[in-house]
Amino acid sequence: MCGIIGYSGHRPAVPVVMEGLGRLEYRGYDSAGVAYVQRGQLIVLRAEGKLSNLARKLEETPSLTATSGMGHTRWATHGLPVERNAHPHQDQQGSVALVHNGIIENYQELREELEAQGVAFSSETDTEVLAQLLGRCLAETGSLDKALSMALGRVDGSYAVCVVSRDHPGVLYAARKSSPLVMGVGVGENFLASDIPAFLPYTRDVVFLEDGEMARIDANSWQVLDVATLAPVTKEIKHITWDVQAAQKGGYKHFMLKEIFEQPRVITDCLAGRVDRRTGRANLSELDGLAPPERLTILACGTSYHAGLWGMYLLESWARIPTRVEIASEYRYRDPIVGPGDTVLAISQSGETADTLAGMRLARERGATVIGLCNVVGSTVSRESDRVVYTQAGPEMSVASTKAMCSQLTLLTLLALHWGQQKGVLPAEATAHCVKTMESLPGILEAELPRMRSRAGELSRAYSDATSFLYLGRGQCFPLALEGALKLKEISYIHAEGYASGEMKHGPIALIDPKFPTFALAPRDELFPKVKSNLEEVRARGGKVIALTRAGSGLQADHEWECPEVWGPLSTFLLLPALQLFAYEMADYLGKDVDQPRNLAKSVTVE
Ligand code: G6P
Repeated sequence: MCGIIGYSGHRPAVPVVMEGLGRLEYRGYDSAGVAYVQRGQLIVLRAEGKLSNLARKLEETPSLTATSGMGHTRWATHGLPVERNAHPHQDQQGSVALVHNGIIENYQELREELEAQGVAFSSETDTEVLAQLLGRCLAETGSLDKALSMALGRVDGSYAVCVVSRDHPGVLYAARKSSPLVMGVGVGENFLASDIPAFLPYTRDVVFLEDGEMARIDANSWQVLDVATLAPVTKEIKHITWDVQAAQKGGYKHFMLKEIFEQPRVITDCLAGRVDRRTGRANLSELDGLAPPERLTILACGTSYHAGLWGMYLLESWARIPTRVEIASEYRYRDPIVGPGDTVLAISQSGETADTLAGMRLARERGATVIGLCNVVGSTVSRESDRVVYTQAGPEMSVASTKAMCSQLTLLTLLALHWGQQKGVLPAEATAHCVKTMESLPGILEAELPRMRSRAGELSRAYSDATSFLYLGRGQCFPLALEGALKLKEISYIHAEGYASGEMKHGPIALIDPKFPTFALAPRDELFPKVKSNLEEVRARGGKVIALTRAGSGLQADHEWECPEVWGPLSTFLLLPALQLFAYEMADYLGKDVDQPRNLAKSVTVE
């Protein structure tokens, strides 16, 4: 998830672009760059790290008089977060520069094709491949719109791109497919950006671009074309009334809500380039040359720990890898039996959690191979792991983790698939259904989320007097019960306990009374009859039950919450957002600080 901005108008472009990037920094912040044309030269300036590093570099660059230009703030997906991988990227001749948000899935084969034609690359990014390809197409067609249409016709994957060319200063092109792109329409100036806040101080009139559309702007005009045919498309200008903060939240009331609603996109991004739709094979090139683990220890904290627990079920049943999941702060202070031949999977959204780091360092010192599964590129976990698999959820702003967990579950599914396939033990059913189901999830989830939110709203109001909740689940729903309870505690400050349904009889049943509601995860899987009898036990003691289950499941619950199901364990991807939304709606209804709950930190870098 990166941020892009383009400007053409009557003001010096670079300050406008830099200001816009500042407001897009929430989309990524590992490096940044700008491009503009000055005295017939295409100038590209880039810097590693925060935007302030680029600003310092620009201070040393005199006479930034260009009135058009573009910029990028990066959240690395391919290649380390270093200057050579920062955007904009150029073609070999320096005739075009391009910024990109998204993932070019077939970049490897395009790169090989271009290298065979003598193109020399200066970065490891998928984006440079597109810049080089565009340069070739421009030389062939002689016009930028035709060249962009031709180049984009060759790429698979997702993109929002913006382009400037040496020979047409003042004109910018942009196009999108599955990544956001909006145009800002001003007086004597026009803008292109990933998100509205980038240009909000200058104009509130916007045109939302759709997939398959290309935009051309200069200072005094704009036009939208069909990417494939270059036929003009009629678009409507919309007037926005949001302030900058609301706009950064994409119109959502809180970052948490926005991030819950981003989960369909997160699943798509995590799968991009990592599965072969035809054969159903997982392709985790990050692990090339590494044999499947003999034994696996997963280390994590908080929500990442719950993701790890969930992953254990698949890693054992699909890949037949003996797996244990450890709370990092416990593991590091034990004298764990770990050494050469062991593999440790450290799961961390931030990649900076002190206990997870200490646990993985300990395992590494004793000879284990460490694989990092994290979201923040260049983080300590990623640097200190033998291998790293990035979850590609984009920056998570809300303290309570939501979309990061969704991305971790997606990657754990792919890991189980990958190792199960490598070992030749993957159940035939999983091979047949997994990839197909994963690919259908974003669409299903997208359609379901608004319905889920309104049901979560109704139920949270019905139970807003409760001071304590019991969350129950069996099998893979047990880690989800833990996560549901954690989310409620974190943001609504209502006490909640997550329990394995079968353990209820061994203690929590003593607490059940009409004021102590139970939130049950009850999908129609093979454990359903057992969950059903647990819930009857709760009801027999006067306890109220909310049951997240499939329509017509015949459960005796006070409130049934119908949740669609997909194949096997992957229904989790639909149950998880329901839990997140219930906690969100409860906290919001109770007037709590959803994004920054008291006493909590996004990244716990102390022991
Ligand atoms: C903190 C955050 C949680 C997160 C946990 C682990 O407690 O508030 O949302 O799950 O740390 O963080 P990590 O970055 O290692 O996943």
